[in-house]
Amino acid sequence: MTPASSRRVPIEPQTVDAPLSDCAVFLVLTIRDGEASLDTVRSVLGDLGGLVANVGFRDLDASLSCIAGVGARVWTPLTGQPLPKELHPFRPVVGAQHTAVSTPGDLLLHIRASRRDLVFELERQLLDLLAGAVDVVDETVGFRYFDARDLLGFVDGTANPVGAALPEATLVGDEDPAHAGGSYVVVQKYTHPLQSWRTVTAEQQEAIIGRTKADNIELDDAADGQKSHKTLSTIVVDGVEHDILRDNMPFGSPGSGEFGTYFIGYSRRLWVIEKMLERMFIGDPPGLHDRLLDFSVPQTGSTFFAPSATALEALGDG
Ligand code: HEM
Repeated sequence: MTPASSRRVPIEPQTVDAPLSDCAVFLVLTIRDGEASLDTVRSVLGDLGGLVANVGFRDLDASLSCIAGVGARVWTPLTGQPLPKELHPFRPVVGAQHTAVSTPGDLLLHIRASRRDLVFELERQLLDLLAGAVDVVDETVGFRYFDARDLLGFVDGTANPVGAALPEATLVGDEDPAHAGGSYVVVQKYTHPLQSWRTVTAEQQEAIIGRTKADNIELDDAADGQKSHKTLSTIVVDGVEHDILRDNMPFGSPGSGEFGTYFIGYSRRLWVIEKMLERMFIGDPPGLHDRLLDFSVPQTGSTFFAPSATALEALGDG
């Protein structure tokens, strides 16, 4: 999480603005009870920068990065600090037809690189060090699919903020000085019933997403009634549009019939992501939910706060 003014260095922990990568792993862990587990986690997180550098130095061009997020349940015992202002466990969003489920998660490790072996190696080393202190709740291995498409066939990530807008949208500032430089992170693991998606015509699919499939051009919604995913996930308050940073990745295994999208959103303001989920699951107007959800089933849902690199490093000092 580099301030906008500072230059990018090749290896740095907590880089929300790391380039969207070809490979990623999303690791959600719970921390076991007891001070010994917390001590282990503090020491590993405090040294995360060193670990990333050790593995990442083996191929600087592969841009290895790792972001660690901490959940509300363990925030204060782990850090000794008050909760970031908006941090709380993922709140389920119950719509008439679809529910955004809330599932356990005390720690998130989001590891990215352009080489699978580097991602694998850093994950292996981290889990070795954390052994006995944590349990793996979910491990999802994501891959970049053609020109950044999801498994539904659409280019995913286009409307992400770039340049100066990126830290503005993702990094907490003066509104919460104790946690400045950190970022709220929400993850959801979705699976897709691809058979039924394939029965939907390309035109209908495009209306659901709000973009054309082949060339990714934005489409206007109908004058009234059903809104597209693109529109439901656009949050405008008092004329100001609030963006988030997404680094969704496809995952799956054709052999076992599993096809999915791992959603990850970084934001300076947790309420913005929560508002998106409300508009998607409950609908706008209520009842007209995001049709994307008829083909995307949320299996998990957890919220974290990724502290700044400095705050993370300080954990190691006890
Ligand atoms: C836009 C896919 C879940 C927030 C898009 C686009 C696609 C897409 C294809 C259009 C291109 C782009 O701008 O990236 C998916 C899939 C999902 C998913 C496959 C899960 C199965 C979510 C969730 C959120 C979200 C859970 C927020 C909580 C957004 C936002 C945009 C977007 C903010 C950009 C809207 C704009 O300003 O144009 N998504 N999405 N998406 N999605 Fe999703």
